[in-house]
Amino acid sequence: HLKGESAETDPKEQIKQVAVYGAGIMGGGIAQVVAQAGYKVTLWDIQQSDIDRGMQTIRNSLERLSKKQEIDPTSVLRRISTTTSQIQAAHAADLVIEAIVEDLKTKQQLLERLDKVAKPSCIFATNTSSLLVRDIAKTVSGARKARTVALHFFNPVAIMQLVEIANADGALLDLLKAFVRDIGKVPVVCRDTPGFIVNRLLVPYNNEARQMVERGDASIEDVDTAMRLGAGYPMGPFELMDMTGIDVGYHIMKGWYEGASGLQGDPRFKPSKEVEQMIKKNHLGHKTGRGYYTYTK
Ligand code: 3HC
Repeated sequence: HLKGESAETDPKEQIKQVAVYGAGIMGGGIAQVVAQAGYKVTLWDIQQSDIDRGMQTIRNSLERLSKKQEIDPTSVLRRISTTTSQIQAAHAADLVIEAIVEDLKTKQQLLERLDKVAKPSCIFATNTSSLLVRDIAKTVSGARKARTVALHFFNPVAIMQLVEIANADGALLDLLKAFVRDIGKVPVVCRDTPGFIVNRLLVPYNNEARQMVERGDASIEDVDTAMRLGAGYPMGPFELMDMTGIDVGYHIMKGWYEGASGLQGDPRFKPSKEVEQMIKKNHLGHKTGRGYYTYTK
């Protein structure tokens, strides 16, 4: 236990029911790891088809994990219920984790609605990759603001060990750290700044790699090989951008360049015309079968 941290915090005493908003690659992964740790989870998305796709991804992931870990996919899946009712998912929740679209207004509207129906003690957590927690929390009541935090997960959630925690202190921070450890992850704590730790470093790194190739300094393949074998990264920057989504990286940079995050106008984050062309052609990475590389199923 870290200095100043209570050794007694059992997260399951305070967090019994978790509601995850967004059944995409992140939300689905979050629902999965939380359920794997024994929590009851309600997974929400707008349409049943989004939920069905998310649940299928969870089933596939549990299947892969069960080959090497003591996991019973059936009992994990039994702990996940699903709904298309925003309100219903929030009613009983002790912790809400939102992993919906990376758009400030949409996130604010969701939390504003949930604030009215959730228990006063319920913690609101955002999985934002680039926005400020305090901006997302602008639409919630004063008391809830103090319980609105970031719990930022990494793709693939089932495998990546890190969770960044921002905007929490005191007993709430202790509880969140204990929760993160209880779901088998490692917490790091940081201030509420754009991109927290990982994305604030990864986004300019990826961008620099892209500019290197655009200048003709090296090929995509050689940059990736160089960073894997010369720097020990598990993936090169282009492989990583294809995995996280070309559009995701683009929107993060555009938001920082044009928004009011404190990074506006920073030339490092200027949206790229080449990337805009890729997005127009639907070359978004793994998810569309083509990004910097081409993928077959
Ligand atoms: N579910 C279950 N198991 C999975 C999985 C999933 N979704 N994805 C991978 N695995 C398992 C595989 O089955 C495999 O298991 P095995 O070793 O028993 O065979 C193991 O993980 C390793 O996978 P692979 O053999 O397919 O490939 P790698 O060894 O290259 O590992 C990787 C894949 C874990 C993705 C690794 O390449 C990696 O760590 N890459 C970097 C990922 C990264 O940087 N993520 C952060 C992105 S930024 C972000 O998410 C922030 C957001 O805000 C944008």
